[in-house]
Amino acid sequence: MIVNDRITAYINSLDMGNGELLDAIARGARQDGIPVIKKETESLLKTLVAARQPETILEVGTAVGYSALLMSRVMPEHCHITTIEKYEKRIPVARENFRRAGQEGRITLLKGDAEQILPSLRGSFDFIFMDAAKGQYIHWLPWLLRLMRPGAVLVSDNVLQEGDIIESRYAVERRNRTIHSRMREYLYTLKHMDELETAILPIGDGVAVSTRR
Ligand SMILES: C[S@@+](CC[C@H](N)C(=O)[O-])C[C@H]1O[C@@H](n2cnc3c(N)ncnc32)[C@H](O)[C@@H]1O
Repeated sequence: MIVNDRITAYINSLDMGNGELLDAIARGARQDGIPVIKKETESLLKTLVAARQPETILEVGTAVGYSALLMSRVMPEHCHITTIEKYEKRIPVARENFRRAGQEGRITLLKGDAEQILPSLRGSFDFIFMDAAKGQYIHWLPWLLRLMRPGAVLVSDNVLQEGDIIESRYAVERRNRTIHSRMREYLYTLKHMDELETAILPIGDGVAVSTRR
């Protein structure tokens, strides 16, 4: 927990949901233990997409397509989402969810490891949502920068790792130590590079919002 639970519960109690289909997809995913965006982060993501009015969106980490569908609800009519997922079992589920939502023509799912796909992507994006392997963000950043137009927004989720990234390395599980130290390096880099202006927000699991100067 990063923010007081009661405040989070209050904020989430004001949320109107995202329609029957998306609410059912989120509920099903959470019941099945599939990681999806936190409720309070959803609103931030939708608001940023609505404000930026992107023509192209890149998402890294599709899971079953929930956050891509959230973004599709608020993006401009002509906007297109490219989303990357490597876990075979989730890909047909995401494709089926895009079809059920009537969004299959506006969302392209690239199947495979972002490590291979990101360096091969051409063109540029107005908005990037990073929500995949947390330990890799720092390695993928140069590729993301290459894909960001001036004024593009980069949203990185789970950057505070439930608040654990500020704990002593001895207080966290061994397998998380590398992820946490890489995440600290990622946040330091975001805040210290000339190309980006970045705000780190203690919302949900921690979100970094950066824009390319
Ligand atoms: C937190 S989930 C994404 C949730 C989704 N954005 C949502 O909120 O609906 C992270 C996803 O990233 C995928 N992933 C992790 N590492 C990846 C990689 N190297 N390349 C592509 N996908 C990856 C995982 O399989 C998982 O489905």
